[in-house]
Amino acid sequence: MNERAAERRRSLHGEWTSRLAFILALAGSAVGLGNIWRFPYLAGENGGGAFVLVYLLFVFGIGLPIMMAEVLIGRRGRRNPVTTMQLLGEEETGKSGWRVVGGLGVVTGFLILSFYSVIAGWTIAYVFESASGAFRNAGADTVAGIFQSLVGNELATGGLHTLFMALTIGVVVLGVEQGLERAVRIMMPALIALLLVLLGYSMTTGSFIEGLVFLFEPRFDELSGAAVLDALGQAFFTLSVGMGAVMTYGAYLPENESIPRSCLAVVSLDTSVALLAGLVIFPIVFANGLDPASGPGLVFQSLPLAFGQMPGGVIVAVLFFVLLMFAAWTSAISLMEPAVAYFMETRGFTRPKAALLVGTTIWLLGFLTVMSFGAWSDVTFWNGTWFDNIDYLSNNVFLPLGGLAIVVFAGWIMARNSTADELDPAAGRGYRFWRWAARYVAPVAVALVLLNAVGIF
Ligand code: PHE
Repeated sequence: MNERAAERRRSLHGEWTSRLAFILALAGSAVGLGNIWRFPYLAGENGGGAFVLVYLLFVFGIGLPIMMAEVLIGRRGRRNPVTTMQLLGEEETGKSGWRVVGGLGVVTGFLILSFYSVIAGWTIAYVFESASGAFRNAGADTVAGIFQSLVGNELATGGLHTLFMALTIGVVVLGVEQGLERAVRIMMPALIALLLVLLGYSMTTGSFIEGLVFLFEPRFDELSGAAVLDALGQAFFTLSVGMGAVMTYGAYLPENESIPRSCLAVVSLDTSVALLAGLVIFPIVFANGLDPASGPGLVFQSLPLAFGQMPGGVIVAVLFFVLLMFAAWTSAISLMEPAVAYFMETRGFTRPKAALLVGTTIWLLGFLTVMSFGAWSDVTFWNGTWFDNIDYLSNNVFLPLGGLAIVVFAGWIMARNSTADELDPAAGRGYRFWRWAARYVAPVAVALVLLNAVGIF
């Protein structure tokens, strides 16, 4: 009976035109500030190698099976995460309580986008800084000064946050399907090409090996429980899993496309971009005597040094920050889409109305992040500033909890037939591997890290 129910359901917002369109949209969601801004600074704060190794294990052992679970749930439910979890929960168990998991995801999307958009605003500022030639032959102090005066200027960062949210709302109003495919198709290869150019520069800094060792030599004695939790949160964040963004995109996936292959492609691409960013940034950090643990400003205070020294640096810098802004944009769209689909499907809102309502709320919330890097940078509670807290809560708590619930639902609550039907009707080796990861590896690992974080284990 489950199969028939799923067969009859159609997405209310159309479907991707092909598997490639889906992969590109998912890649657009995954690859963003998480890879180029967040991964390097977390790796730097957490001592490098051991953190990176744990992160990689989490990405492939936990993130990949959860991503597959989200896509299969999304495609089967064909609705926003709240309704989808409710529908499938009712089909599989007769109970509707699983909708809470979708609800948590929608809220998490609000929280993440509220700070994500502010950082995306910084990248826009850096397009202009680069174009003005401010980085030409600049030293570490000049570059740090430029960063400090930007984040201290709430009018500028607030304005650019506003611009970025307007751009995001604009695309979501038009419907995510159109344009995303083409944008990612151009942006992604260009971004990777530029990172490779920068890698070439990093190799000439004289500190390339030092950067390599920092990133890949595991020194486990330096690995704290907090670092392991950071690695878990980053694995979820970078893959966009745990909050229903992937589920929502899965709802637009045509029936006959292969889920495992699409997910493996996206996860591999996302990981390559993050590692590439790390390989570019750390040699620059060490060559210039910067502190790898300097936090969210790391990328913005290291790359400009390279741009300032390399031939054609102004053009490379402008291009780089434009591309980074695009990468953030395609991620931001996927952060908003679950909530927008929710309001359209359950409240009967039109797409523009839903996008405006969701977008405006997130925009307003974002000003707390703007202030927390500016005048309120000394106002701290619990884990630190407002930004520290919202970042911790959404990425280290809500995403892992959401992902845990999703993978338990797919591995334990859904009938084997239902998941096999979506992933691999032949239930071949790939399917058995997924089911094992979804039932045991991912839930146990996430639970252990979370329990460790609250001091129980
Ligand atoms: N994965 C995105 C990035 O790395 C951020 C994101 C998180 C997008 C969660 C959607 C959902 O930048």
